[in-house]
Amino acid sequence: MIAQRPPMGFNTWNTFGKDISEELIRGIADCFIEKGLKDAGYEYIVIDDCWSEKERDPKTGKIVADRRKFPSGMKALGDYIHERGLKFGMYSCSGVRTCAGYPGSFGHEFEDAADFASYGCDLLKYDFCFRPNNVESKLLYRRMGMALRQTGRDIVFSVCTGGMDHPERWARSVGGHLYRSTLDISDSFDSFKNIALGQAGNLCYTAPGCFNDLDMLTVGMYGKGNVGDGGCTTEEYKTQFLLWCLFGTPLMLGCDPRTLSGELLSLLTNKKLIAVNRDAECRGAFEASAHPWIGGRKAYFRFLEDGEYALGLFNLSDSDGEVPFYLYSAGLGDLSGYGMVFEDLVTGERSDIRKDYFSADLPAHGGALYRVRLVKL
Ligand code: GLA
Repeated sequence: MIAQRPPMGFNTWNTFGKDISEELIRGIADCFIEKGLKDAGYEYIVIDDCWSEKERDPKTGKIVADRRKFPSGMKALGDYIHERGLKFGMYSCSGVRTCAGYPGSFGHEFEDAADFASYGCDLLKYDFCFRPNNVESKLLYRRMGMALRQTGRDIVFSVCTGGMDHPERWARSVGGHLYRSTLDISDSFDSFKNIALGQAGNLCYTAPGCFNDLDMLTVGMYGKGNVGDGGCTTEEYKTQFLLWCLFGTPLMLGCDPRTLSGELLSLLTNKKLIAVNRDAECRGAFEASAHPWIGGRKAYFRFLEDGEYALGLFNLSDSDGEVPFYLYSAGLGDLSGYGMVFEDLVTGERSDIRKDYFSADLPAHGGALYRVRLVKL
C-alpha cells in the first residue's frame, strides 16, 4: 500500500516550466538534504512537462529524454535522487501530446509505464491535454493505472485532469493516489483563495490512498517563474501553507527550494503543521464558520487521530479583523460538560479553556492553525 499519507516534495512546473535540466534537479535534491526539507518529510522530486525530445525515437518508438537538458538520461537522474534517499517523480499525458506539446502516452501506456519504471520512477503525474474527444477520460486513466501496476513497481499515480470530469468520483477507482481537483494555481492570493474555497466542500472525499490535490504550492515564489502572476506577501504564503496543511492536500513545493530561508523555511518545515497534514486518519476538514455571511472570515475544523482536532481560522477578506469560532459549529454543545483548549501551531501559544467561543485577530489575508483538545470542565 502506497500513499497512505498525502505525498510531499517538489515539482518543477511552477517556477521552472520548460527551463529544466539534470543539473537543476541534482541541485534541488542536494538542497532537500542541506535545508532539512527531507528531514521534514519532503521526498518526491517531480520533473513536470518538457523533459523529453519533441518526438518519439523513430526506431524504438520510445519517449526519450531531451539530450541537451538531460544528457545523462533519466535512469542516471533517478539513481542520483535515490542515492539521497529521495523519490523520483515523472510526468506524461493521457493524450497524444502533453499540455506543452511533447509526446504523450496515448496508445503507448504499457510501454511508457515500463520505461518510466526502468528509470526508477516513483510517481507519475498524468495530464489531460490532447485527448481524442471520443474517448472517455476515465478510461484513459484506468489504462495507465493498470499499466503502472503491471510494472511491478510502487508508483504513485497522480491523476491530473485540472478538476475536469469530477475526478473525486473515480480517481480512487482507477488506482489514483491523488487527483487534481482544480485548474492550475498561479502565484497570487486570489488564485489560492479561490482554489481553497472552491474545494472546501469536497474534502470529505480525501482518505488514505487517494487525496484531493489542490495543486503545487506557490509559497516562496514571490512572483518569479513560470506561473508568476504578481506573487504574494509572506503573510499570504503562510495562509496558503496553513490551508494546504489543514485540507490534507499533497505538499508539493513549487518555488525554487534553493532560495528558501528564514521564516518561510521554518514554516514549510514546521513539524506540527506537517503532522496535521499527515494525520493518520486523513479525514477531511469541514467548514465551521461562525458568521458565514461575513465575507471571507472562515473557520474550518478537522477530526484528527487520538481524539484530537485541528482548527484553522482564516481572514480571507481585505480588512484586518476578528475571526470567530463557536464551539457548537464543531459539534460541542454548551451543556456537554466539555470545553476546548487551542494551541497555535506557529507561535506555540496555548489558550485557556474555552466553553463556547474562541477567536483570533487576524490581518487581512492572514490565518492561524490550532491543535485542539477537549477538556472536562
Ligand atoms: C497542465 C497541468 C500543470 C502542468 C502543465 C504542464 O496545465 O495542470 O500542472 O503540469 O500542464 O504543461
